[in-house]
Amino acid sequence: MSKKILVLPGDGIGPEITAQAVKVLEVLKRECELDVTLEEGHVGGAAIDAEGTPLSDETLARAQAADAVLLGAVGGPRWDDLPMEERPEKGLLRLRAGLGLFANLRPALLYPQLASASTLRPEVVAGLDLMIVRELTGGIYFGEPRGVRTLENGERQGYNTLVYSESEIRRIGRVAFETARRRGKRLCSVDKANVLECTRLWREVMDELAGDYPDVELTHMYVDNAAMQLVRAPKQFDVIVTTNMFGDILSDEAAMLTGSIGMLPSAALNERGQGMYEPIHGSAPDIAGQDKANPLATILSVAMMLRHSLGEPELAEKIEQAVSDVLDEGLRTADIHTEGTRLVGTEEMGDAVVAAFIRRLWNTEDVKDPGHCRHAGLSNEID
Ligand code: IPM
Ligand code: MG
Repeated sequence: MSKKILVLPGDGIGPEITAQAVKVLEVLKRECELDVTLEEGHVGGAAIDAEGTPLSDETLARAQAADAVLLGAVGGPRWDDLPMEERPEKGLLRLRAGLGLFANLRPALLYPQLASASTLRPEVVAGLDLMIVRELTGGIYFGEPRGVRTLENGERQGYNTLVYSESEIRRIGRVAFETARRRGKRLCSVDKANVLECTRLWREVMDELAGDYPDVELTHMYVDNAAMQLVRAPKQFDVIVTTNMFGDILSDEAAMLTGSIGMLPSAALNERGQGMYEPIHGSAPDIAGQDKANPLATILSVAMMLRHSLGEPELAEKIEQAVSDVLDEGLRTADIHTEGTRLVGTEEMGDAVVAAFIRRLWNTEDVKDPGHCRHAGLSNEID
């Protein structure tokens, strides 16, 4: 049966970068007979403008009915003055909650070609390959009570609640242990157990789970130290598991280690294997519509979609190889541009990845199942 993908471009650079990822999806349909149907919808500021709300009930229902969602980015100065409940970001949070996407996988992988684009010394980041598993539907982002109230003395007071139940900690913990098991078998749980009771419980539950995963080495680290260790010696980490807010912060930090936040994809998964895939960067309104944005994080998000929701790990790998190929060719968008490389725009980068991807598909030697793609039948069309 055809799988449904809902594309939600969103705001700022969202439409231009998702357009490049859609080109890759079209190639998958055409050349690999990947049986997917693409639909489009509004989220964030675009949805506020078109439908009066950052995520309509109808779009949420379409997302729930889809096998996967590809999202660009949300937010921008035009909607910054709206009340909290009506902001573009609410659309994203509502999608995460409405789909039950509790497990957020945020890999930070340094392509060797970009070692000199990092602000850290190449020897500190060369070979970096870590995975942040961020809890995505709980913690202080969703905890009640929350708000701003006026005290008896007339002073205003803002408040939020950090809350995690045992079952919420356990299910994200399991995803993290399983992830570590498939990688380097080292899991670091990041908390603030020296100050916050809630994350003390987090630590206890992680320790309990460790008994089920004797092959994975579990360590704990306070979040302040983790922030420091990430820039001091990031290669000490394999998998990090942490709360919603700590994961938000640490994943931006980890992204910069790889040269640019424009390189990193993410997957948000629920218990049924449905997923939402998005670059971890924001909507970058300052460069929107100028053909300057880096589409690679969104294209790499399609690779994560193939791996986690569409059961096509080999095709995922080919997309990742295609990205590596264009970097080898020396193509760079502005965010990763260094001396001696060629500056290209969003479109040209997208087209280059598509071309490299097709070349990879045609290289029958490393296609394990040659019947899988139709490359042979197309061999006259492209040389
Ligand atoms: C992210 C973003 C979001 C978050 C915002 C846009 C709500 O920063 O996905 O990291 O805080 O989760
Ligand atoms: Mg963030």
